[in-house]
Amino acid sequence: MDIVGGPARLFERAAVWLRERKVLLPGVSTLTRLVSEVRAGANERLYAVLVDAAGPALIRDLEGLLRVEDGSRLTEWERLRTGPSRVSVPELLRQLDRLARLRTLGAGTIDVETVPAGRMNALARYGLAGKASALQGLSGQRRGATLLCAVRALTTEVADDNHRCGPGQWTNFIQTLGVSVEGVDLVPEFVDEARGRYPGVAFRVGCLDMLEVPDRSVAGILAWYSVIHTPPDEIDCALTEFARCIAPYGSLLLGFFEGHVIEAFPHAVTPRLLMAGR
Ligand SMILES: C[S@@+](CC[C@H](N)C(=O)[O-])C[C@H]1O[C@@H](n2cnc3c(N)ncnc32)[C@H](O)[C@@H]1O
Repeated sequence: MDIVGGPARLFERAAVWLRERKVLLPGVSTLTRLVSEVRAGANERLYAVLVDAAGPALIRDLEGLLRVEDGSRLTEWERLRTGPSRVSVPELLRQLDRLARLRTLGAGTIDVETVPAGRMNALARYGLAGKASALQGLSGQRRGATLLCAVRALTTEVADDNHRCGPGQWTNFIQTLGVSVEGVDLVPEFVDEARGRYPGVAFRVGCLDMLEVPDRSVAGILAWYSVIHTPPDEIDCALTEFARCIAPYGSLLLGFFEGHVIEAFPHAVTPRLLMAGR
């Protein structure tokens, strides 16, 4: 049968064919009801698979995000789903805390390979658009599944934002203070992106442990969370290079994590390490 015109056309032609042969057809409302029952059943199965994969402890933690926090009018969900408002040190730190919290929840590590990505994305979109009160109104399994997908998507999104946070906002900020500045990054794509965003600011590809500037020639270095990808046994090279480049009485501002556990980032540009906790 020619199916040009998609499922609606196919359905119409099938109905004509059945009518011509005097086959009794259910009314449209009956069909609508049947289809919505089948869809509701498929959705319930999807929610059950996701909630099962997450396990009760994670679901409990995710549901906990919807409760209003002590001493606040906001739920943790509202805090986590709200992105950065401006470029500032406190805001950057908040983003790193946000990422650490999302990773601690662990929704991103749940094995849900059997669930089609499109259905998870749809649930994530719905969840991320919803305030805590809207999510609280969902039925139990649907709420758990929606939170799982939303938090997974949010973890990836915030991680990407943080890894892409090299494209120049600090270099640009420092230049707006009237300081002559150059942004250096190991990743050519980040440098290209920075140049695209801030055409009037100097950026180049380079490595922290070989900055290619004369000895004692810079007034200061801001290495804001850029040494966090350097393995501990190689950090000396970067610090020695900073010491070589900075003029006497110059400044060094380092952003980094501190803690007792060293944990690799789940992505690669250069060997990246995260000191869990701060
Ligand atoms: C977490 S981001 C921080 C970016 C920026 N300092 C900021 O705060 O927006 C880490 C950046 O450091 C860069 N990076 C990591 N190791 C580097 C190295 N050895 N030399 C130069 N850049 C490096 C990465 O490519 C990434 O853009």
